[in-house]
Amino acid sequence: MGTILVTGALGQIGSDLVPFLAEEYGAENIVASDVKDSTSLFPGIAYRKVDVTSREAISRVISNEKVSGIFHLAGILSASGEKNPELAYRVNLDGTFNVLSEAKKAGVQKVFIPSTIGVFGSSTPKKNTPVETVIRPSTMYGITKIASELLGEYFSKHLGLDVRGVRLPGIISYKTEPVAGTTDYSVEMFTHAIDGKPYACYLKRDTQLPMMYIDDALGAMLKLYESDPANLTRRTDYQLSAYSLTPGILADSIMKHIPDFEVTYSPDFRQKIAEMWPESIDCSLSAADWGFNPSYGIEETVEKMIRNLRMARDGKIAK
Ligand SMILES: NC(=O)c1ccc[n+]([C@@H]2O[C@H](COP(=O)([O-])OP(=O)(O)OC[C@H]3O[C@@H](n4cnc5c(N)ncnc54)[C@H](O)[C@@H]3O)[C@@H](O)[C@H]2O)c1
Repeated sequence: MGTILVTGALGQIGSDLVPFLAEEYGAENIVASDVKDSTSLFPGIAYRKVDVTSREAISRVISNEKVSGIFHLAGILSASGEKNPELAYRVNLDGTFNVLSEAKKAGVQKVFIPSTIGVFGSSTPKKNTPVETVIRPSTMYGITKIASELLGEYFSKHLGLDVRGVRLPGIISYKTEPVAGTTDYSVEMFTHAIDGKPYACYLKRDTQLPMMYIDDALGAMLKLYESDPANLTRRTDYQLSAYSLTPGILADSIMKHIPDFEVTYSPDFRQKIAEMWPESIDCSLSAADWGFNPSYGIEETVEKMIRNLRMARDGKIAK
């Protein structure tokens, strides 16, 4: 086999996905990349600086590293995208087109592109939202991500490139604190609680959004990546979620472990973004086509996050 290239590897998901793929396929078969110069995050794994807005850079890394598969994570997320819509357009849409085009040209076998619940807009039905529904996003993030889904489908159906992808919900993880999305409050709540600090949440207490723990997201991404194409009725819009969470439910659940944790609520511009997104999504096609079956509920996620963050603070596991 050739190598698997991960773009945007230094972000929240990439920092967990790279070691996960290394475990699965062998460290020598993984190449991590990001727009930043270098990293010490992935000992023993090759790292290359690749800006996905440059077709030349993508073409070079694909040919130099003999890339046969790509997990394309590079992106500008919802909150950052609203602050810099032009950058979001260039990285998310041009970047995805560049990756797909260069992958096709070089004969790469498979490309995985994560999408998001951010593709939905305020006219989308909010509960148990199906894959096919009213999709009229009004953030630059949502616009670029739905267009990327459709590009992936186009490359699959018309150009013969095997492209797969999922609409991710908010992801809860401990290694790299997210800084650019609308569901970041979940991770911030944990870090504040562990550090004994009060937390001012930027969403209202009862704002409900689909979420999942990182290990379930990684397992699902790999399962879809590996699954028999004959079973796939969709290409780039399989939906994933393990539960629907509100800041209030999460705070109460953390307080069962850390009773003096204090949370206040002062919504900012992200409240408006959150209110455009579904409260819960229908993942039945992912279950039927390739066996999506998350194992972390809210309580399990909270226990695991607190345990991992404490161990990371004590230097017992990698941060
Ligand atoms: N984290 C979530 O909750 C979540 C939810 C839904 C979808 N997603 C999707 O998953 C993917 C990864 O998200 P994440 O949470 O890891 O994001 P992140 O913001 O933590 O990381 C994105 C990475 O992309 C890199 N990047 C930015 N511009 C780049 C460029 N021009 N070239 C190369 N790299 C560049 C950044 O340096 C960063 O390391 C994105 O496509 C995102 O839309 C994430």
